[in-house]
Amino acid sequence: MARRSPIALAIMRKLQLKHLLAILIPVVVVAVVFHARTISYFLRPIWDTPPRPFTRIPHYYAQGLPMDQLCRLHGWSLLPSPRRVFDAILFSNELDLLEIRYRELAPYVHKFVILESNVTFTGIAKPLHFVDNFARFEFTSSKISHETLLSPADSRASKDPFQFEAKQRVALNSLLRRSGIATGDVVIMADADEIPSPETIKLLQWCDGVPPVMHLELRHYMYSFEFPVDYSSWRASSHLFNQGTRYRHSRQTDLILTDAGWHCSFCFRTIEEFVFKMTAYSHADRVRRRSFLKPSRIQRIICKGDNLFDMLPEEYSFQEIIKKMGSISKSASAVHLPAYLLENPDKFRFLLPGGCSRSNR
Ligand SMILES: *[C@@H]1O[C@H](CO)[C@@H](O)[C@H](O)[C@H]1NC(C)=O
Repeated sequence: MARRSPIALAIMRKLQLKHLLAILIPVVVVAVVFHARTISYFLRPIWDTPPRPFTRIPHYYAQGLPMDQLCRLHGWSLLPSPRRVFDAILFSNELDLLEIRYRELAPYVHKFVILESNVTFTGIAKPLHFVDNFARFEFTSSKISHETLLSPADSRASKDPFQFEAKQRVALNSLLRRSGIATGDVVIMADADEIPSPETIKLLQWCDGVPPVMHLELRHYMYSFEFPVDYSSWRASSHLFNQGTRYRHSRQTDLILTDAGWHCSFCFRTIEEFVFKMTAYSHADRVRRRSFLKPSRIQRIICKGDNLFDMLPEEYSFQEIIKKMGSISKSASAVHLPAYLLENPDKFRFLLPGGCSRSNR
């Protein structure tokens, strides 16, 4: 290497730095403009504070233990007769999971209360999937208390999904009351794809001492039971009904019952259903490019366990973001899943290990 004077070196360094900056600054500006959302997610630990942590109620269960012992393990006692259970949901389009839910819970539930609207929370028209497929729920029709909420399409709607959701919640409250609920009954408030386990329901039915309101911590899966994400699902809740009880799907207490069931997100049978969910619900603004909706892309993502919206994990610490970046690891376990799924493996192949390929419609 030729020797250079310190002055020449300094000039060279400066020049390089200048050139480097001349390239780097526009690149950074373009990246910031095009990836503002990604960057803001990555920096979330700086701009957002995490919600108050939950107080976890330990959950004890082994097959065959008598109910009074299960109650006692939790510090509760056995009731002389079981409480009635009402299962209340706002239904959108998760037909397969709704069937699995109703098959799993029918032995324990007194009334399935279900409200379906012909508009989504973003005001877009949707078919009445539940009504159109009622034959699949015929087996438990005497327990179903159903109402259809008809709303006109609204072009301003997408601006305020909260309004549509609020309207549906009010209608569900009124339907719940008309379904004969009384003080002291149990209400499960959840989405169709948030399924409490039978063990959880039995504790609620039989144990004196369960908290009047608690969240249900569910195992979270993405696309199918082949992709377990974590235990972060908390929105489902159980309530001992009183006249002040209102249907909600948001944070209501610090208490959460551990390992209380399953939450399978985007667990759809057809690519068409994925596209509908991606465009018609509150996720619509995440579809930043039309190419996100290409069936071949969606299929590839489902099989890899990647993110449909090309987004970073929504977490509150850098450690958690980095831990969850990249694909979800596949699981080969189908142990402790809803029984109807395993009684009908051919019908629900797409939800089981090795079943990631989907038909278009
Ligand atoms: C919902 O149904 C009602 C009654 O049939 C109708 O007037 C309304 O336009 C429908 N809404 C949409 C978005 O199609």
